[in-house]
Amino acid sequence: MSEKKFSFQEEVRRRRTFAIISHPDAGKTTLTEKLLLYGGAIRLAGSVKSRRSQNHAVSDWMEIEKQRGISVTSSVLQFEYDDYCINILDTPGHQDFSEDTYRTLMAADSAVMVIDSAKGIESQTKKLFHVCKMRGIPIFTFINKLDRDGKDPFELVEELEKILGIRSYPMNWPIGSGRNFKGVYDRQKQQVEVFGGGNHGQSLAQAVKGNVEDDSFKELLGDELQEKLIEDIELLDIAGFEFDLEQVSQGNLTPVYFGSALTNFGVEPFLEGFLNFTSPPSSRNSNQGHINPESENFTGFIFKIQANMNPTHRDRIAFLRICSGKFEKGMQVNHVQENKKVRLAQPQQFLAQDRVIVDTAYPGDIIGIHDPGIFRIGDTLCEDNSKIQYEGIPLFAPEHFSKVYTKNALKRKQFVKGITQLAEEGSIQVYKRPNIGVEELIVGVVGVLQFDVLEYRLKNEYGVDLIMERTPYRYIRWIKGDQFDPDCFNLTMDTMIVEDVDENPVLLFANEWSIATVQDRNKDIELAEISYRK
Ligand code: G4P
Repeated sequence: MSEKKFSFQEEVRRRRTFAIISHPDAGKTTLTEKLLLYGGAIRLAGSVKSRRSQNHAVSDWMEIEKQRGISVTSSVLQFEYDDYCINILDTPGHQDFSEDTYRTLMAADSAVMVIDSAKGIESQTKKLFHVCKMRGIPIFTFINKLDRDGKDPFELVEELEKILGIRSYPMNWPIGSGRNFKGVYDRQKQQVEVFGGGNHGQSLAQAVKGNVEDDSFKELLGDELQEKLIEDIELLDIAGFEFDLEQVSQGNLTPVYFGSALTNFGVEPFLEGFLNFTSPPSSRNSNQGHINPESENFTGFIFKIQANMNPTHRDRIAFLRICSGKFEKGMQVNHVQENKKVRLAQPQQFLAQDRVIVDTAYPGDIIGIHDPGIFRIGDTLCEDNSKIQYEGIPLFAPEHFSKVYTKNALKRKQFVKGITQLAEEGSIQVYKRPNIGVEELIVGVVGVLQFDVLEYRLKNEYGVDLIMERTPYRYIRWIKGDQFDPDCFNLTMDTMIVEDVDENPVLLFANEWSIATVQDRNKDIELAEISYRK
């Protein structure tokens, strides 16, 4: 941590909290690791990636990640660079966990999208991008793996617009590619940055800076590369969009950086540019209007709950995004939704791979607090009695539903406990059929991989073997308002009424036709696609 002393206001303004999204294998882990390297949080790169080796790091609690080679959980890392204090929120790469990504994005002030230069925009980049877009936060693009032969940079930039529908502004431009990747041209500084050797990406890349027309660069790049670069820059200036920070902050224009996370080339220019253009924590909307992060009243909200992160401790951690005021260890706060006071006794912060007890934290920071089972996703904690509540976190509409039972009736208690826990984490949604006990529950998920996670975790964390029976239901609608009377309700044969955890009536449909028919037959009832936790 920095030795320097900062005022409260400076602490807020030096925070940068962002999430990284990518299609699996585009290089998110490698880039994260290199950012940590530049921040001095790790000396030799290779530590974060050890999740693939024997010595597991950040998210070692779940074998399924290893088996499938995907990241299921999100983790949080904090490090310092210059005078910035940076919080990186890692997100699951697979679209089946996009609900978790959305919750994580709720805690982020901006997002970095990593793209493989050989593959361009991939299916999950697209899905995750749309989740980002829903949040309306600034999105920065890092086009990775320039050390390999990839698509033409102009084509990549065009894909952003054509496939994702976002305007882009290349902040720098690659000089050569593949084995011939020499460096980048910084468009704002109007200078060439040529990279030096380095030891296989394990430490910082050196850069030689200067003007594109310099003879020294002609020598370094050769006539052909230099001429091509001059041409490319001209074309960009004529044909491209203008840089407009306002448009960036609204998520309508993405600044694009080129580089190679593996060899470190272009990582530092990206980090510096990104830190410069992304904003510190800003005001957040609540039931009492916008709350300024520099307000002294400590507030924050819970965006993620994770049980059994450490299998030996069986602990449950609630992740809190601090929105205003200063956090101090042991402080007593109001748990607004429950109208109770809680003491935040053992707050944890995630520094590189270590979890440490944190004494103070500021807006933008994420802390993990011990959860004895009292918190729910979306809950607000607030220091004074103002009862501020931040906007709720929506429940995504599940698209797959299974009936679940335990194989062994003697394990029913653990079955209910496990299912309840996973539902509280938000990785599944659970419904009961009226008049049927908890022996048979219906589980809804957004992506089918979540069923695998459910099965796996119930077995490994609760010793429960599940029986799962897929149902034909594909759509869910919450019934709005209280004038609902199941006896007067006119359903189709293939529609089922269930209750969610808050005992709200919910309808499951097999197809869109049924939704339209039920809506038609019950005109005074409003069906909602998204529900907010109470
Ligand atoms: P992810 O978190 O987005 O899934 O991707 P990750 O960083 O794990 O990277 C996926 C693969 O791509 C890794 O190779 C990684 O070394 C490689 N990679 C990442 N950045 C670059 C880059 O800039 N250039 C090149 N050439 N490769 C890059 P792997 O073979 O799957 O793993 P490993 O054997 O290297 O650990």
